[in-house]
Amino acid sequence: MSYDIIAADKAAKLRESGEALVLAIESSCDETAAAVVKNGRQVLSSAVYTQIPLHKKYGGVVPEIASRDHVKHLTPTVAQALTDAGCDFSDLSAIAVTAGPGLIGALLTGVSYAKGLALALELPLIGVNHIAGHIAANYISHLDLRPPFCCLVASGGHSHILLVEDYCQFRLLGATRDDAAGEAFDKVARVLGLPYPGGPALEALAREGDPHAIQLPLGFNAGPTADFSFSGLKTAVINLLHNAEQKGEATSRADVATSFQYNLISVLANKSVRAAKDAGMDKLALCGGVSANRALCAAMKDSAEAAGLSFYQPEFRYCTDNAAMIGCAGYYALMNGQLSDLSLNGVATKENFFRE
Ligand code: KG4
Ligand code: ZN
Repeated sequence: MSYDIIAADKAAKLRESGEALVLAIESSCDETAAAVVKNGRQVLSSAVYTQIPLHKKYGGVVPEIASRDHVKHLTPTVAQALTDAGCDFSDLSAIAVTAGPGLIGALLTGVSYAKGLALALELPLIGVNHIAGHIAANYISHLDLRPPFCCLVASGGHSHILLVEDYCQFRLLGATRDDAAGEAFDKVARVLGLPYPGGPALEALAREGDPHAIQLPLGFNAGPTADFSFSGLKTAVINLLHNAEQKGEATSRADVATSFQYNLISVLANKSVRAAKDAGMDKLALCGGVSANRALCAAMKDSAEAAGLSFYQPEFRYCTDNAAMIGCAGYYALMNGQLSDLSLNGVATKENFFRE
């Protein structure tokens, strides 16, 4: 019997029972991660190998270095996830893998590895969207959370306000017109002389400053739409620092960091709370790497609760890239009949992920 028939047959049986032990693999950017997830929300293991020290000296992710390092670490990271979960390959019922969006070379390492594994073990294969994975991080941390709800995805490559209509159905309510939130953090951190990745370093510096010390423009973000923009804010910070430098004036880096973070967070919190209310939702969730920012979480929680919305955020370890969230999203895709075949390819862009 061919692989396709065996995998489809096994997937149908898993759908019928609602039970699945999923091995998930994530390699879309600079983390090599593997996890074993039972029945969608029970994380038996989550192994994350980060390449951050490798890219630090370049001030950002170098795609080719990332791909090569994934190749090196996929096998040991998967082995670690299996050991931590106390199981082996023969216990698994499906393989989930991030298929996009992300760096194409990095994605292809995980996708190829997962395809090889699925074929050798004759297991169903599920290509998972990375953004759906970030959203699913909330299901792991909040066992009571079910769609529909509104979700702000704020990561290094994406900033979207989405309506999560169902586990595998998403509608775009608003998005950045230019830089993603994490990208803005990283770029401003760089001009402040902070190391990569800029987000956590800027957050630490921002604890020491005054959020109202420097007035930064709201610009496009003062408008009524759920879309937002961070390039104006980023440019304002860069100009401010350059002008001060040219005039020989002292600027408090901490005040700049805090004022920038305050401006960006206010925009994200206000826009997503308004979008959730306009969509008639009573729940608002946050996810993506920037959800590791405690000031953002606090502001979102306060604004959401003041507007009568319940607020959800992933546990800290599931905010940035990990494979547990991919295992969770993969489980719901599997239950929804979204099986991939061995022609699965990496896709760098977010095409066909949500309805506009
Ligand atoms: O989700 P993620 O791990 O990877 C992508 O899918 O992009 O997000 C990484 C991004 C980076 O831009 C990083 O600077 C940002 O999340 N980030 C933070 C914090 N921790 C990570 N941004 C602000 N504050 C943080 N504490
Ligand atoms: Zn991510």
